[in-house]
Amino acid sequence: MNVLLVGSGGREHALAWKIAQSPLVDTLWCAPGSVAIDRIGPCFDVAADDVEGLQKLALQLEPDLIVIGPEAPLARGAADMLRARGFDVFGPSQAAAQLEASKGFAKDRMAAYGAPTARYGRFTDAARAKAFLDTLQPPFVLKADGLAAGKGVVIAATREEAEAELADMLCGKFGGASAELVIEEFMEGEEASIFVMTDGVNHLTLPPVQDHKRIGEGDTGPNTGGMGAYAPAPVMTPALMKRVEEEITIPMLRGMAKDGMPYRGVLYIGVMVTADGPKVVEFNCRFGDPECQVLMMQMQADIVPALLACATGGMRASEFAQLLPVDANPTPAVTVVMAAPGYPGAPEKGSVIRNLRRAGEREGVMIFHAGTAVNGEGDFIASGGRVLNVTATGATLREAVDRAYAAIDDIDWPQGVCRRDIGWRALERGRQSA
Ligand code: AMP
Ligand code: GLY
Repeated sequence: MNVLLVGSGGREHALAWKIAQSPLVDTLWCAPGSVAIDRIGPCFDVAADDVEGLQKLALQLEPDLIVIGPEAPLARGAADMLRARGFDVFGPSQAAAQLEASKGFAKDRMAAYGAPTARYGRFTDAARAKAFLDTLQPPFVLKADGLAAGKGVVIAATREEAEAELADMLCGKFGGASAELVIEEFMEGEEASIFVMTDGVNHLTLPPVQDHKRIGEGDTGPNTGGMGAYAPAPVMTPALMKRVEEEITIPMLRGMAKDGMPYRGVLYIGVMVTADGPKVVEFNCRFGDPECQVLMMQMQADIVPALLACATGGMRASEFAQLLPVDANPTPAVTVVMAAPGYPGAPEKGSVIRNLRRAGEREGVMIFHAGTAVNGEGDFIASGGRVLNVTATGATLREAVDRAYAAIDDIDWPQGVCRRDIGWRALERGRQSA
């Protein structure tokens, strides 16, 4: 079979690498892809969010499966349009993708289906928003309703800051995305990313991952798209995973199906482990980036049958459960993000990266490209904010982490920046329990 993958980042490089290993796959195509993905399969110059262009490309290539990586095309209805043309698509409909594209929609669905989350209100009016702030304790959590490239959440330490922020947001700080706000209670706890692959009825939960969203070591400084991730994340004990499944996954999937928006694809549940148990921080309608890189490295089984089953639906529960054997002790894996200087603000592009091949030949290591290009001399150069995802597996998380940093030390890219403490919460837990 032939597969068309949509996207261009490190997440898609990892998906391309994993999908192309499947004995079921003849050709992997990618749109728009990247210089790294092009080495796996042909790339086509169609932007990921160009829904019309994707449709034209699909009609030309006639893939047996289309896998959509990022949220933008899903929020624009790419999966619906391609399904209407008869294609099998891994990715939710526009209606179901609102779980990511509208935070207010997601909160209302959680309230309707009984999934635990922070108490909230939806506002377009500053006076009513301020009245709701009266009912909360600081810090205050303000969220732009729409997609804001991961930047639409503000945690305000004081009432003054919250009021200033809410005025800015309602006045278009994030354009149309912040014409409506969600204000919610602050939740205290440790976060984890849970990924559920589903055909709308059946589901498979992948091992729990922990992302490191902040730019600085010790989880300090501004939020980024993610500076590194690892799995399995011990914060999510089997008992907590069971609670997530029973209290969040099943009610959400049933509710969405009942309301005529069956969710097909991967549901990313951002969980906060609070004193009262797991609560939803957010949903995303796609794999996490860089969480996906960790999961693809760790997964022993072929992912293609599961992608296909989620896309086509109609499978019996017992068959669906066999698609990806759930490993009670998954191989530890880690991804360390190397970013260009200036990230997450304005990253500096163009610096030359050498020695990638040698670094990538280390045992258990794969280097996924998130934002590279090739210059006239044939060298890789930085062309994005997050540039490389140095990923490794090991017998233990410690070994995986050591392998990833050894590979980073091999890479000749003086400008590249990374956190040196990816995986620290799990490693610290391990030390405490040793
Ligand atoms: P989101 O884009 O919704 O994932 O929010 C970005 C980050 O803000 C999350 O990963 C959390 O660290 C933080 N956050 C969002 N909502 C809350 C909340 N209600 N309580 C505490 N932290 C939150
Ligand atoms: N790593 C966080 C995200 O993909 O949204």
